[in-house]
Amino acid sequence: MCGIVGYIGKRNCSDVLMDGLEKLEYRGYDSAGIAVFEKDLIRTIKTRGKLQAMQEKLANEGKPIGHCGIGHTRWATHGEPSDVNSHPHSNGRVTIVHNGIIENYSELKDFLTERGYTFASQTDSEVAACLLDYYYAERNPLKAITETMRELRGSFALGILFRDFPDRVYAVRKSSPLIVGVGENESFIASDIPAFLKFTKKFVLLDDDEIVCMDENGQHFYNGHGLPLEKEVQIAEWDVEQAQKGGFPHYMLKEIHEQPEAVKKTLDAYISNGVPDFEAVGLTDELLRDVKRVFVVGCGTAMYAGIVARYVIERLARVPVTVEVASEFRYMDPIMGKDDLVIVISQSGETADTKAGLELAKSRGVRTLAIVNVKYSAIARGADMCIHTPAGPEISVCCTKAYSVQIAVLYLIAFRFAYAHGQIDENVMKRLTEQLCGAPKSIENVIVQNDECQYIASQLVNVDTLFYIGRGLDYALSLEGSLKLKEITYIHSEAYAAGELKHGPISLIEPNIPVIAVATQRDVLAKTVSNMEEVKARGARIIAVCRKETEFAEGMVDMRLDFDSDLDDLFAPLPAVCALQMIAYYTSVLRGIDPDKPRNLAKSVTTE
Ligand code: AGP
Ligand code: GLU
Repeated sequence: MCGIVGYIGKRNCSDVLMDGLEKLEYRGYDSAGIAVFEKDLIRTIKTRGKLQAMQEKLANEGKPIGHCGIGHTRWATHGEPSDVNSHPHSNGRVTIVHNGIIENYSELKDFLTERGYTFASQTDSEVAACLLDYYYAERNPLKAITETMRELRGSFALGILFRDFPDRVYAVRKSSPLIVGVGENESFIASDIPAFLKFTKKFVLLDDDEIVCMDENGQHFYNGHGLPLEKEVQIAEWDVEQAQKGGFPHYMLKEIHEQPEAVKKTLDAYISNGVPDFEAVGLTDELLRDVKRVFVVGCGTAMYAGIVARYVIERLARVPVTVEVASEFRYMDPIMGKDDLVIVISQSGETADTKAGLELAKSRGVRTLAIVNVKYSAIARGADMCIHTPAGPEISVCCTKAYSVQIAVLYLIAFRFAYAHGQIDENVMKRLTEQLCGAPKSIENVIVQNDECQYIASQLVNVDTLFYIGRGLDYALSLEGSLKLKEITYIHSEAYAAGELKHGPISLIEPNIPVIAVATQRDVLAKTVSNMEEVKARGARIIAVCRKETEFAEGMVDMRLDFDSDLDDLFAPLPAVCALQMIAYYTSVLRGIDPDKPRNLAKSVTTE
């Protein structure tokens, strides 16, 4: 979590840092701060709260004027969100911003305390600042960094200023992301590219245990032993507009609206001659034919995309699929072998647990495939094969378009799997692919239903609890819909397989409790309807998410959100999930919450 930035160049550093932090605020918004060299002195301004509070503080106190500095937006892991725990942290000679967790901070703190260091904050990060200072005895920044790196356990991306070198920004990373922006006579560091995209599209990816020193002559790279390195400069594919709100009140609504285009782009990228084609990433029919079992590993929404994949791959290819929460998978000692395929799914490509799951699979010699939206991320680079989803930057903490493109890719994989396993012939594979290509149009039909969604939201705005129910793919959707709602509205919500209600949770149904029944799958519709009857009989208010033509008995459904679609039921998750996203979005807005920055959350979870 946390966003870090750094700059050296001719522009006003405070403005560049604040601009970058605004782009990274999705990564954390407990506090913010900047430290800038004003001539030879470092001036630090930091405060608890969102970036807005920082802007106010800068306006009151006057922003630092200089050309070299670092900045931070925090998602607290160690120590409450407070002014004193905000970054940057300094001990006089060394000032740092940190993203990650120093796991051995406690023992290092003891070590440093014995040597006379005192600590102002409760953060693990301040320990890194003091340790750098400790190893700075010879006033050699590079040496201080390499020595410190050896001692730190856990994950860190550090932006560092040394008081004696007012014209340099140092940075180092291990397991937390850090990208170096290469401008004309200016240099940037950032946790993510959008932070400097406005100024340059050129960037260098810092790998684990690598260091950069940025000065007026450019960027100088070193390995963990302090030896110089040559690094490749790459060009970012994303542009500035993609990383802005583009007239929408929130990123989330913008990203919901980008789904037809994002899904279309994804399908275009991985279909050739009317059938799925993953040859370019190495996912060949020969490889798929060898796969006897699939594990899908991810967190949150990415894992829920895996549940859709389980239904679809098992139904079409008859290959067993196990979906695991990454934080469980990594410690459960899973039984895996050479006939298996582990698919890891992640929008950010930085999620710590998912990354650990990937590493575990690799260490067991199992083939790994990543489905990732951020092309240059650690997971994208770590997997044997990587399918990049071209959805563009997803900035809202609440994941929307990344889910849709993930499941679009998973459908295509399922078709190819089924073909490779002889379950379907080429004609069927073509027909399925053609059907799937109708999804963007169906999504468009849903996302224009603002009035209907706002009406449903107005009925949910004051409730304390609600349920989502569904069967099969509708159950997979219920899980995702419920996560969306609880994440951005703070309303307690639970998703249940519709048939499971009567095994316990039905005792919670009281008059007027809303139950959102996802009912898109016609093969189980009659069964879902029976479960809707059961809750209706106990006074629940039912909101059905279903096809336009679906009919229910008179009086059973209180509200409905229809979608008009020629798609086969197999593909209904694509339009239906958009309906669930919109309901959550409008409920959040009506409750006065910023859906892009829900409390306690951050976009990429780089800590365990
Ligand atoms: C979704 O709305 C959540 N913010 C969260 O569950 C997210 O999907 C999860 O943290 C996984 O992130 P990733 O896709 O970047 O790995
Ligand atoms: N551990 C640091 C803190 O609590 C950084 C947090 C993070 O990167 O998520 O301040």
